[in-house]
Amino acid sequence: MSAALLIDGKAAAARALAEVKAEVAALKAAGTTPCLAVILVGEDPASDVYVRNKVLRAGEAGIRSLEHRLPANTAQAELLGLIQRLNASAEVHGILLQLPLPAHLEEAAALQAISPRKDVDGFHAENVGGLSQGRAVLTPCTPSGCMQLLRDTLGELRGKHAVVVGRSNIVGKPMAALLLQADCSVTVLHSRSHNAAELCRQADIVIAAVGRPRMIGAHWLKPGAVVIDVGINRVEEHGRSRLVGDVDLDSALAKVAAITPVPGGVGPMTIAYLMKNTVTAARQLARSPEAPCLSTC
Ligand code: GUN
Repeated sequence: MSAALLIDGKAAAARALAEVKAEVAALKAAGTTPCLAVILVGEDPASDVYVRNKVLRAGEAGIRSLEHRLPANTAQAELLGLIQRLNASAEVHGILLQLPLPAHLEEAAALQAISPRKDVDGFHAENVGGLSQGRAVLTPCTPSGCMQLLRDTLGELRGKHAVVVGRSNIVGKPMAALLLQADCSVTVLHSRSHNAAELCRQADIVIAAVGRPRMIGAHWLKPGAVVIDVGINRVEEHGRSRLVGDVDLDSALAKVAAITPVPGGVGPMTIAYLMKNTVTAARQLARSPEAPCLSTC
């Protein structure tokens, strides 16, 4: 078998961000400066890095960003108060609440408080429901980025068997919905699945989103499969700390047609699609600032 293609997420993200930049310029020329508000509660070091990267990329694309860093002991009511102010602000088009939240805060209630029209993560129930019904709504960034990588690699996805390993609200479930929308046959595997490796071996497309380092080895993969590895796991090896995916890249390379590396695969696409969603939200809000919505906006 010839060597697998390493899917270049950095290059794909650069292309997506170039499109964002052009759309931002057009919006600015029409009088709207897209603005993303990012909320970080507490001092989780990984979240701190993600938030800094998001703000940096926003600036590069010409998107204004507002950083709201709240102490770890912030009360739920304070967090909800901030979200309501951002919902009401005509200057703000996108609101991102960085997860995970400190344990005392209610994540579901906080996400549900964000106006669905500013919900650039696509986590509000209104947008989750819309995605499942195939409506044009704001969709979660990581799965959207994965879909772009799949389209770039495979072209038409119709009829392919896609296996999603993992059923999180952030990746697994919305990923399955997007693949279904693209006319794939979709199987979702999880920690209680029987014969997971055997089922996964039937897949033309594998999306690995379990958060367990190198869990998926070559024996899970069909020859010629296309693999998108969403995992970003920090491991200590030979006295060094490094990032690895949910797929055992070295063994998979000998078997698959194409695979995303970690780092440099899906990661950059998540941020690029956050910027795309911010621009989409800004365009829609500029077009119809008072459009009714079904929730608390
Ligand atoms: N934490 C890890 N991934 C994400 C994400 O996609 N969005 C938010 N808001 N928090 C996260």
